[in-house]
Amino acid sequence: MEKTVATEEREGEVAEQVVNPWQVSAKDGGKIDYDKLIVQFGCQRLDEGIIERVQRLTGRPPHVFLRRGVFFAHRDFNEILDAYERGEKFYLYTGRGPSSEALHLGHLIPFMFTKYLQDAFKVPLVIQLTDDEKCMWKNLSVEESQRLARENAKDIIACGFDITRTFIFSDFDYVGGAFYKNMVKVAKCVTYNKVVGIFGFTGEDHIGKISFPPVQAVPSFPSSFPHLFSGKDKLRCLIPCAIDQDPYFRMTRDVAPRLGYHKPALIESSFFPALQGETGKMSASDPNSAIYVTDSGKDIGSKIRKYAFSGGQDSKEKHMKLGANLEVDIPIKYLGFFLEDDAELEHIRTEYGAGRLFTGQVKDRLIQVLTEIVERHRRARAAVTDEVLCLRFLMYMRYIH
Ligand code: TRP
Repeated sequence: MEKTVATEEREGEVAEQVVNPWQVSAKDGGKIDYDKLIVQFGCQRLDEGIIERVQRLTGRPPHVFLRRGVFFAHRDFNEILDAYERGEKFYLYTGRGPSSEALHLGHLIPFMFTKYLQDAFKVPLVIQLTDDEKCMWKNLSVEESQRLARENAKDIIACGFDITRTFIFSDFDYVGGAFYKNMVKVAKCVTYNKVVGIFGFTGEDHIGKISFPPVQAVPSFPSSFPHLFSGKDKLRCLIPCAIDQDPYFRMTRDVAPRLGYHKPALIESSFFPALQGETGKMSASDPNSAIYVTDSGKDIGSKIRKYAFSGGQDSKEKHMKLGANLEVDIPIKYLGFFLEDDAELEHIRTEYGAGRLFTGQVKDRLIQVLTEIVERHRRARAAVTDEVLCLRFLMYMRYIH
């Protein structure tokens, strides 16, 4: 973990919950308190009313991640829907910091959800690969960060976006021109004290880190993409992201009106739990804490069987009597993300909770579901050869070469 966070635990103090782009840890090693986070960050809860509204406006059932509360918080999403109802379009913006070669299932969540939003609303999408960010925070070389960005771009393209409406760019390749002008405008509005307050930078952090937030801020403004949105300066922006990215966009929303831009709206997710249990997000340094899109069916089977934390009881008799504790059970949590059939999920929850189904059976179903998703992803990714990547970038994403 980076040591840039002001809220970091100090000796003798009780560890408080910390959620920011570089650190996610729950109080006293427990679960993240998402209600508290909503209050702390000042965002709004995504309630039933909005979900129904999405269903009505798009004429399709809400995505599993909406129905089951994976995306649980927002900022001004209602305003995006108001505008959409009036016949105004908007655009989507999301991104990834390419810090590792292989993505795990948690990394795919915002992209799967963004694909649904793009299909449902038929809107353009920009995807930022912050190779510069990871170069600075993870101490990777410029070249290695760029290579990871290209590899990750293949996984992202494999999620199946509408390529005629999608622009993927890496910061090292694209930053300049109108985008850079917006960065400078943002930078002039944010004092050093302000970023220290938002991000917890210290005097020991190099100035690359301190100057980075405008890079992630400005894709929220359509004028940063003149080749896509020229003459559409009033186009609204909706950002699907995990809630740890909120600090960047609090800053962005703070400065937007001063620059004459709309504040970007946000739709924010909780974290995908580690196999070992729900105490934060998955750790890239422990390959056994997550299912990777590169895992084979065999890997998936053995990881789930060996590491997925079970809420089942430790003897058959006890389990039949007491049933599983669904609150802590990771197979049930994972099925909640990826098993689409509501009726089947409800059935499994009831039977497992009553002790009529056993952990092994629930794990077997989960292994099937995940193997299918990972296999599908692998096939789609294999179709994104270097040549396709190049062509796509040339045709649709002109700026990467
Ligand atoms: N900072 C993000 C990460 O480390 C990457 C990112 C850039 C992003 N722009 C974004 C994420 C917009 C969500 C939305 O992964």
